[in-house]
Amino acid sequence: MSASVRPQLSEFALDVAEGLSSVPQKKLSPRYLYDDIGSVLFDAITLLPEYGLARADERILRRCASSIRMMTGPMRLIAELGSGAGNKTLHLLRDLAHPGDRLTYRPIDVSASALLACEKQIGRIADVHSIHADWLEGLETVARDRPADGPLLLLFLGSSIGNLERGDIAPFLERIRRHLRPGDFFLLGADLVKDVEEMLAAYDDPIGVTAAFNLNLLNRMNRELGANFNARAFAHEARWIEKDRRIEMHLVSRRNQRVFISCLESAFNFQEGETIWTESSHKFTELELERYAHASGFQPIRIWIDSHWRFAEALWRVP
Ligand code: AVI
Repeated sequence: MSASVRPQLSEFALDVAEGLSSVPQKKLSPRYLYDDIGSVLFDAITLLPEYGLARADERILRRCASSIRMMTGPMRLIAELGSGAGNKTLHLLRDLAHPGDRLTYRPIDVSASALLACEKQIGRIADVHSIHADWLEGLETVARDRPADGPLLLLFLGSSIGNLERGDIAPFLERIRRHLRPGDFFLLGADLVKDVEEMLAAYDDPIGVTAAFNLNLLNRMNRELGANFNARAFAHEARWIEKDRRIEMHLVSRRNQRVFISCLESAFNFQEGETIWTESSHKFTELELERYAHASGFQPIRIWIDSHWRFAEALWRVP
């Protein structure tokens, strides 16, 4: 089905049409997990004892803020890709701000409500100029609007980099680097490979919050596209794929079934056991992060690793 035949179809509808027709593996982009309900469920995931990633990220930022400042010097301009409500960024900004100068903080996010919360929270310590846009589009705005002098520190935290396709990571980082200037800094949070059971539990918690986060995508298609998915006829599954070093989330059809999506005027068949692949969360090694830095034209400066949960904060510089 093409956009020219149905010009009124949303990008979501077109992606669903393509993803559910994909053979042999049905798939949907992880970005569609984050409607209002999905965003709240993701916030709940970050509080789960099994999901050590979010706390590790925050712990390193708290503990290493002064070492980061020693490497970067005090900052006047900080931007963040996918800031959310800016919860973990607050204390980092406080520690990195230039004494005597007001810090400008430019959070970039696709969620308008998260940006509002961010403005409220961080507005106390910085001038917040939020950008409601995709990551690269937002970064382009930062690059265009910034003053002629002084370095920028760009934050990309929480291992969101892991949700890209493995082959897209280096080109994406290179595109980021092209929007920066020599002397700018990039702080990248990335989850590291660790014990498989520990990683699986983080994506398949016993009280089912991650399952709800994943299954909500079916409800979202029902609400927004007029689909008739029965969420009880699907199960959440998290898989560790050793060769690709990633956790995959899937929605597994519990039986043979046919689902109709009214806005697409199409039906989709599911065999029992067939899955929709909804997310990849790649895990990294320290060496691999260093290679990504070089491959995308950055100079790695320092890496901090949490001692409880193998998570890294890597500081890179544009040479
Ligand atoms: C946002 N992102 C880094 C999370 C992750 O760990 O890949 C999303 C998530 N998916 C399931 N749990 C959390």
